[in-house]
Amino acid sequence: MDERTVSPHTRPEETQLDASLRPRTWDEFVGQASVKETLRILIAAARARDETLDHILLYGPPGLGKTTLAHIIAAEMGVNLKITSGPAIERPGDLAAILTNLRRGDVLFIDEIHRLSRPVEEVLYPAMEDFALDIVIGKGPGARNIRLNLPRFTILGATTRLALVAAPLRDRFGAVFRLDFYSPLELAQIIRRAARLLRTAIDEGGIAEIAARSRGTARIANRLLRRVRDYAQVRADGVITREVAREALALLDVDELGLDDLDRKVLRTVIEKFGGGPVGLETIAASLSEEGDTIMDVVEPYLLQLGFLDRTPRGRVATRRAYEHLGLPFPEDKAPQQPALF
Ligand SMILES: Nc1ncnc2c1ncn2[C@@H]1O[C@H](COP(=O)(O)OP(=O)(O)OP(=O)(O)O)[C@@H](O)[C@H]1O
Ligand SMILES: [Mg+2]
Repeated sequence: MDERTVSPHTRPEETQLDASLRPRTWDEFVGQASVKETLRILIAAARARDETLDHILLYGPPGLGKTTLAHIIAAEMGVNLKITSGPAIERPGDLAAILTNLRRGDVLFIDEIHRLSRPVEEVLYPAMEDFALDIVIGKGPGARNIRLNLPRFTILGATTRLALVAAPLRDRFGAVFRLDFYSPLELAQIIRRAARLLRTAIDEGGIAEIAARSRGTARIANRLLRRVRDYAQVRADGVITREVAREALALLDVDELGLDDLDRKVLRTVIEKFGGGPVGLETIAASLSEEGDTIMDVVEPYLLQLGFLDRTPRGRVATRRAYEHLGLPFPEDKAPQQPALF
């Protein structure tokens, strides 16, 4: 279970909230301007030619809007959206059952597509390429192969780890899009909209304060808003001001940059146990007894984004800004050397 206030993953009790705040149209979908623009063109072109949409792969850290985009894309194409995930499709037969139930143009959303098993992938390749299933009927010497044609459909894959998507699978997508962290201004827009939907009174100071601590992540912005709203209701007069947001978030142990205890522990480990790095992520995870996945999907991308960690071929290195944020002295021998002048 993920207990962190700043975790970008959905919690079970949040599924409903996620769905109620989920943008339904392009106008409601904030930011990701170039992804949005390119997708709108793809969709308009496919519709104009009365064709099905090309297979699309979305990647990026959790909570940035992959599932939301899947809903909008299917709605804009006027087709059904079927949702599944890599780990849910256990055997090739499971995938065959899903594919044979699709209608022409339907979008099949496969979340965590990097977690498909090899045998399932083998079935997916011809399905994506030729819209066909190769099935073996019978056993032993009497067995024969038959090819079953499928209606044309669209696979919409989503992953937090592009590097783990097998190259042959990646190659079968007509378009690959990366979602980026949202800027504070975009987060402010997301929070303003959510506050309106939740009928919560909030001023611009309150919005800015929550935006600054949302780790560039839409889902976290919505969650922090809800937690601050609770606090405002009980401890203030229900109105979220900058001051109220600050108090509430301090209570939740979310600092001014949105870091929590785990982020700070990771930085401290790099700095105090490994002399500032370089050190591998797996080593950091092991020394904190944390899941490597949590560190890789959730902690590291945001620390890189803040410029607190640098990626080097030999591992992660803590930057001067990380030392400063923790109030630790930066060892000057780590400063980049001036190039020698001849
Ligand atoms: N561009 C956006 N504008 C406004 N709200 C957004 C946007 N993107 C996401 N959200 C909000 O954030 C929530 C989480 O988004 P979503 O479920 O699409 O993320 P995800 O990328 O699929 O995450 P995961 O990797 O965990 O599946 C949504 O319910 C929605 O309210
Ligand atoms: Mg999702």
